[in-house]
Amino acid sequence: MAPHRHPKDPGHPRQPRRPRTALVAALLGAAVGTVALTGGPVRPVTPAADAPAPDGPATGVPAGAPRLRAAGAPPTVYAHRGASSAAPENTLVSDEVARRAGAEWIEDDVQPSRDGVPYVLHDDTVDRTTNGTGRIRDLTAAQLDALDAGSWFAPAYAGTRLPTLAAQLEDLRTRGGRLLLEVKGPHTRDQVARIVREVREHGMTDRVFVQSFEVDALRLTRELAPELPLGLLRATLDPDPVATARDLGLAAYNPSDDALATRPGVLQDLHAAGVAVNVWTVDQPARWQALAAAGVDGIITNRPAELAGWYTAWSASGVAR
Ligand code: G3P
Ligand code: CA
Repeated sequence: MAPHRHPKDPGHPRQPRRPRTALVAALLGAAVGTVALTGGPVRPVTPAADAPAPDGPATGVPAGAPRLRAAGAPPTVYAHRGASSAAPENTLVSDEVARRAGAEWIEDDVQPSRDGVPYVLHDDTVDRTTNGTGRIRDLTAAQLDALDAGSWFAPAYAGTRLPTLAAQLEDLRTRGGRLLLEVKGPHTRDQVARIVREVREHGMTDRVFVQSFEVDALRLTRELAPELPLGLLRATLDPDPVATARDLGLAAYNPSDDALATRPGVLQDLHAAGVAVNVWTVDQPARWQALAAAGVDGIITNRPAELAGWYTAWSASGVAR
C-alpha cells in the first residue's frame, strides 16, 4: 500500500517559498547561520506545561502526552515538517527555525531506508525534496546520506542533509523541543521496534508523541512502547471517533481541518473522553481563529512563527477563548 496522501493537503510546499515578513526573514537568516547546528544563542524550549487532562485520556497519561488545552491557554503550535514555509521541510534547519520561532513541538515524518534505518522524509520518494531520485525504501542509508535536501528550497540551504531519526532525536534532546513523530506509511513490527529503540536510546520517550494514519503502526507502537502517547491522523472522521480513540488507546485524535468541519461536535465528544484534538494542516489566520475559538488543543501548521505571533495579538485583543 502506498503511503497516505491526502489530495487536498496544503502542506506540501512544492515550490520554494520566500519569506514574506521581516519576522520570517530574520528567522531565515538565523537558520542559515545554523546549518551546521553549532554555536548560536539557542533559546531552550521550556518543557511543556503538560497539565494532566481533566478527565484523563482514554488510557492513562503518558509522560509526553499532548495536552488538553486549558481555558485561556493558546492552542499548541505544531511546526509541520519544521518551519516548512521558511526552510526545507523535515530537516534539522527547518526544526531550528521552528524552535527559534518558539514552537515547542515539531512534526516530522519517519520512514525506513532499504537497510532499515529510519529517516525523516515525507514523500515516498526523495525526488521532490532532494537532488536524488528513487523510493526511500529502495535506497540505502549510504545513498540517503549523500543527498542534498536543501538546495531544492533555496541555494542558501545547499548541503543540508536528510536527517536520520537518530540525528533528529539527538538534535532535539540537546537543543530543545518535542517531537510529533508521524510514522509514515506501513511499517513492519521490526521497523516500529527500530523507531522505539531509537527514541528510548536517546532518552526521549517523555518528549515524543507518535501519530500515524496507519492503525497497524499505532497498535504496534502501543504494544512495543506503551509509554509513548499516540495520535490518529484522519482525513475523514471515523463514525465514532471516541470509540476509535478508546480502541487504540489514543491520547489525541488529529483530523484534517476539512474533516473536523464535517462534524464539529466531535471536538466536545473527544474532550469529554479526555482525548486531545490537533488539527492539520492550517496556515490561514481565519482558520486559526475559528479553530482556536472552537477549542481545539493544537494546530499543525507550516507557519509556526506566524501562528504563535497571531495568537499573541489575537488574545491581546480580548476575544480569545
Ligand atoms: O501532522 C499532520 C500531517 O503531517 C499529515 O499529513 O501528508 O503532511 O504527513 P502529511
Ligand atoms: Ca506528517
